[in-house]
Amino acid sequence: MALVLGIETSCDETAVGIVDGRKLLANVISSSVDQHARFGGVVPEVASRAHLEAMPQVIKQALNDAGVNLKDIDAVAVTAGPGLIGALLIGVSSASALALALDKPLYGVNHLSAHIAVDQLDSDKKSVPTISLLVSGGHSSILKVNNLATDVEVMGSTIDDAAGEAFDKIARVMGLGFPGGPVIDKQAQLGDPNFVEFPRGLTSPADQSIHQYNFSFSGLKTAVARYIAQTPDHKKADVAASFQEAVVDVLLSKSLAACQESGIDNLVIAGGVAANSRLRSLASQRCEKLKINLSIPPGNLCTDNGAMVAALGSMAIAQGIRPSQIGLGADSAASMSRVIW
Ligand code: KG4
Ligand code: ZN
Repeated sequence: MALVLGIETSCDETAVGIVDGRKLLANVISSSVDQHARFGGVVPEVASRAHLEAMPQVIKQALNDAGVNLKDIDAVAVTAGPGLIGALLIGVSSASALALALDKPLYGVNHLSAHIAVDQLDSDKKSVPTISLLVSGGHSSILKVNNLATDVEVMGSTIDDAAGEAFDKIARVMGLGFPGGPVIDKQAQLGDPNFVEFPRGLTSPADQSIHQYNFSFSGLKTAVARYIAQTPDHKKADVAASFQEAVVDVLLSKSLAACQESGIDNLVIAGGVAANSRLRSLASQRCEKLKINLSIPPGNLCTDNGAMVAALGSMAIAQGIRPSQIGLGADSAASMSRVIW
């Protein structure tokens, strides 16, 4: 079993996780979200500076929570992309310095793959292949995962906004603040999901023929903004619930179709939007009906964290994948095909 320390700095969370093989020992997160809220989105320079300031304390706290010393660490893993370049470089520099000083291997890992890898923690499941619905602030895809570290096929992706981005944009239109996912989730619990029938992007028969597993949320965003402008006495909770229902419905319909058509009865839902309470409950209802094994990490491991990075590093070690070079750099636009640097 390898003791792996994982560092995540791709956006506004400075996060460090420690795992021992598949066992989660520590997961410490310091977020700079409050410093960005008044701008309505993450300001890259502000995020980078916050990472630099928070990093030493977050590492110390994680070691403390795990009850281990720095010299016990067997390997260091770090998000090397995709993400904000300045923010990524703070994490990569910190991880490189640690690996160099400790004379231990360094693994630069893909942030998106790490979101899925966290599902393996504290479990012994080996269910591959799986269909994975990966839904975050910057990405939304349906993937066929044969081996997360070496063999992932992208079945479909968003052709415009990511699911999380749609939550963030609609929250802004509704004056609910940033980030939008958690506030819309909360509002929606007080509303009627069937109050307005908002459009489900790329689900018409004509669209399905070319975009069977692709998503589009820009038409939905326009429809919600128009509804709000034309309905001055609208109830926020009903709009939030109806919008959320449209997103969740289309995410699940396409993911479950991918499971059925590929004959794969395992579905993993990962990324920040997987923390959504309606997505989680509707997924479990629909998967139960279709006899599909559903796995969704606990909510606090769905949004960005260091444990997911450590989990993917640990998986790479278990598969004998060679470490990255010190000085590996970062790739802000890395695709899913680059899993370990
Ligand atoms: O994976 P993540 O933490 O960061 C990225 O890699 O992008 O995802 C962040 C996204 C944000 O857009 C946020 O609004 C959304 O996840 N999110 C949610 C919820 N919690 C976070 N969306 C819907 N419901 C939630 N409860
Ligand atoms: Zn993420």
